[in-house]
Amino acid sequence: MPLIEIEGVKKAFGPKVVYRDLNLSIERGESITIIGGSGCGKSVMLKLLIGLLRPDAGEVRFDGQDVATMKADELQKVRQRVGMLFQGGALFDSISVGENVAYSLREHGRSADRPDIGRRVAAALEMVGLPGIEKMRPQDLSGGMKKRVGLARAIVQGPEVVLYDEPTTGLDPINVTRINRLIVALKHELKITSIVVTHDMQSAFAISDRMAMLHEGKILYTGTPHEFQSSKLPEVRDFVIGFAPPDEGRPSLEVN
Ligand SMILES: Nc1ncnc2c1ncn2[C@@H]1O[C@H](COP(=O)(O)OP(=O)(O)OP(=O)(O)O)[C@@H](O)[C@H]1O
Ligand SMILES: [Mg+2]
Repeated sequence: MPLIEIEGVKKAFGPKVVYRDLNLSIERGESITIIGGSGCGKSVMLKLLIGLLRPDAGEVRFDGQDVATMKADELQKVRQRVGMLFQGGALFDSISVGENVAYSLREHGRSADRPDIGRRVAAALEMVGLPGIEKMRPQDLSGGMKKRVGLARAIVQGPEVVLYDEPTTGLDPINVTRINRLIVALKHELKITSIVVTHDMQSAFAISDRMAMLHEGKILYTGTPHEFQSSKLPEVRDFVIGFAPPDEGRPSLEVN
């Protein structure tokens, strides 16, 4: 059974139809990238997966259970298993970096884990290459550091799935590579299922097992990076032209 199944989903905001008939299955351990034009519904899709938004029709199943009809306590259990890196980071400026990273542990964590919070926050910050910055304030961080703190917050509770909304947008090339490496490392080391929304085709090709293109309220095409690159569909060509996936069998990102 796939870990996530989106089936026959329709969603509109007033007159604005976002999905006509959305269907997508995501396997455990898979790294999938969702691409598509601005406003086509990529962020909405991630929000449907964790029940922040509900579909007008259709099902969004997580591990066989329909998220769309879950009650608050069931949703909370799903959210414990899913970390989310929000578009723009969504850090709280009024609290420290450490408190930001601890937020989901305090919010959803089991009380038995409370004494471990400091240690787990430190481990998550270490994992994203920012050890010891717990006391800093979000406003004193660079854009790249904010994204990495957002990522530390997404992984601190040991999620099975991480949803990344534009993890590399607006970053310089060094930070882009750093974030891409982290996504690949989390997949390999922690066997995390990754769902990445991005405009950045170089990242998409570097980190994906599979890609899916959203277009006019549906998944227009899914395939491996190589299949995307050789697709004849004009909408796909418009996106991938000028970019190339790494050579087969030779990952572009070394994971140590
Ligand atoms: N809560 C909401 N209320 C009303 N309209 C919304 C809401 N959330 C999203 N929309 C609309 O739904 C459409 C899809 O939004 P979404 O944020 O998923 O786009 P996106 O593909 O992530 O775009 P971008 O690449 O710019 O981030 C947009 O037209 C947006 O204005
Ligand atoms: Mg978006």
